[in-house]
Amino acid sequence: MTTVIIDGKRVEADPSQTILEAARRVGIRIPTLCHDPRLKPSGACRICVVEVEGKDNLAASCATPVSEGMKVSTRSEAVLRSRRLNLELLWSNHPNDCLTCDKAGECSLQNLMYEYDVKTSRFVKQNPVPAPDESNPAIYRDMNKCIMCGKCVRICDEVQGQHVWTFSDRGIKTRVSTAFEKSMQDGGCVFCGHCVSVCPVGALMDKPVMKKARSWETRKVRTVCSYCGVGCSLV
Ligand code: FES
Repeated sequence: MTTVIIDGKRVEADPSQTILEAARRVGIRIPTLCHDPRLKPSGACRICVVEVEGKDNLAASCATPVSEGMKVSTRSEAVLRSRRLNLELLWSNHPNDCLTCDKAGECSLQNLMYEYDVKTSRFVKQNPVPAPDESNPAIYRDMNKCIMCGKCVRICDEVQGQHVWTFSDRGIKTRVSTAFEKSMQDGGCVFCGHCVSVCPVGALMDKPVMKKARSWETRKVRTVCSYCGVGCSLV
């Protein structure tokens, strides 16, 4: 086992574990947006950054393995400043429609904006605004809300094995789309609902539920509904 110090707490961790996993072992919460324990880490969102003593740059805790004697701070001033900056950057390309968004109340971005008291963004929206895709009866897509965490891409590849989603274009124009902009059906989608279930914002949503109930009016149950196996049936 490897011994690391996180926020002054001594933690025994397996050398194969990341800082995030070691912190969670002892109940230290580090916020995440692109992390999912079922998926390979991608380090895309940088919300989970921490300060490692002796390192010049902040490290993405979800993608940095522990090492013997490592001293980590999860809430230093530099860490909090960086998280707020990242939230501002994410928010700069996000619609300001939380009042009417179906994801309100269970949106990870909204929750973090609240937690870190980020009320606005100093940055200007860069990308053109594509219209939401409502053509599919099961899955609603609004790529204006996508924060590029890549969880939909990775869960479709690594868990479902369908490879429906991919990253298109490069740089500021990078976006999540189906390969060759095919419809989801033509792209091999089996409507398992995995991508919807991991989306931290309202970019991918369960269309049959939209505008029928708010998140706090529903509960999750074990079931297989008409098109998928996510289990989010209405009360
Ligand atoms: Fe670690 Fe996104 S959760 S970079």
